[in-house]
Amino acid sequence: MLVGGQGTRLRPLTLGVPKPLLPTAGVPFLAHQLARARAFGVRRVVFATSYRAEMFRPTFGDGEAFGLSLTYVYEEEPLGTGGAIRNAARALTCGPDAPVLVLNGDILSGHDIGEQVRRHVAARAAVTLHLTEVDDPSRFGCVPTDADGRVTAFLEKTPNPVTNRINAGCYVFTRSVIDTIPEGRVVSVERETFPGLIEAGALVLGYATRSYWLDVGTPEAFVQGSRDLVLGRLASPALPAPPGELIVLPGAEVSPEAKVGGGSVVGAGAKVEAGAAVTGSVLGDGCLIAAGATVTDSVVGRGARIAEGVVLRDAVIGDDAEVGPGNELIRGVRVWPGVVLPERAVRFSSDA
Ligand code: GTP
Repeated sequence: MLVGGQGTRLRPLTLGVPKPLLPTAGVPFLAHQLARARAFGVRRVVFATSYRAEMFRPTFGDGEAFGLSLTYVYEEEPLGTGGAIRNAARALTCGPDAPVLVLNGDILSGHDIGEQVRRHVAARAAVTLHLTEVDDPSRFGCVPTDADGRVTAFLEKTPNPVTNRINAGCYVFTRSVIDTIPEGRVVSVERETFPGLIEAGALVLGYATRSYWLDVGTPEAFVQGSRDLVLGRLASPALPAPPGELIVLPGAEVSPEAKVGGGSVVGAGAKVEAGAAVTGSVLGDGCLIAAGATVTDSVVGRGARIAEGVVLRDAVIGDDAEVGPGNELIRGVRVWPGVVLPERAVRFSSDA
């Protein structure tokens, strides 16, 4: 499992916590993927760590809670996606012909991992890539296939994509193919390994599905992922409560006169006061949403304080930040951890 990226697009959320460990629908993001992988028969996982590597083991330990055996491999210098796979292969115990599942640590996917592995083995492919369809593929590398599902090219972002099928960040490698990735240097599977294999005539298969899929690399997508999990749009065995309009973690206090829903999660020890309205948002542990505040599709960090009547929409508030009364933060605004916004510092409406 690739979990070593810096998650720059998710800053400031990822300044203190790596993306795969961000609290999502009440548990560390990766818990959802681990539980799903276990449900498909995975028993052993190697974490390829780099950024904030020391935080993974205290969170997941030896994996017993998931019924998994977890191993942690560390990169002194980040090696990129391909270099990380090569480096983590040191901890593999399987033979050269065995299939090895590789997952990006920032994807929520409802696809059938077992079927992807079965197709890979049946076709004796070098690599089998999960492909998903998106409305706008221009932001992604697109991956055309022929009638037999064979990948014919791996194309970088282009304004005129030839297909709306994109790389979904879940691969099955034949172990011996991983051993051909150069060792000890930065390698990108997307830019180097996959195009190289296709060029060399190796069988690179696509496994295309239309099942739930989300890359949680941006704040909007992260909030959406948490919301979808809480609402049950993607079933997760790791969800800490039954799916529904909201999940309230232990020790949280939600006033009966507050309106909280739309797939929101209220962190442990957080407080939502009377008249506040929270929709589709992630509220961190110990934060405060004061009376009459409106929080929509936003992330409020651990210990942050949102004053009376504040409006947040598509906003990210860092841990322990304070937003004073009369502020309106919308359209992707990000407040860095610990920052204090005084009363009426920011307002987007013309009627302020
Ligand atoms: P951004 O900086 O916002 O692009 O996020 P990112 O650092 O996570 O990069 P990206 O989304 O492209 O990474 C895809 C997956 O590969 C994620 O699960 C990352 O954790 C992982 N990853 C990216 N680079 C490395 C690396 O150098 N080493 C390891 N071990 N994992 C990596």
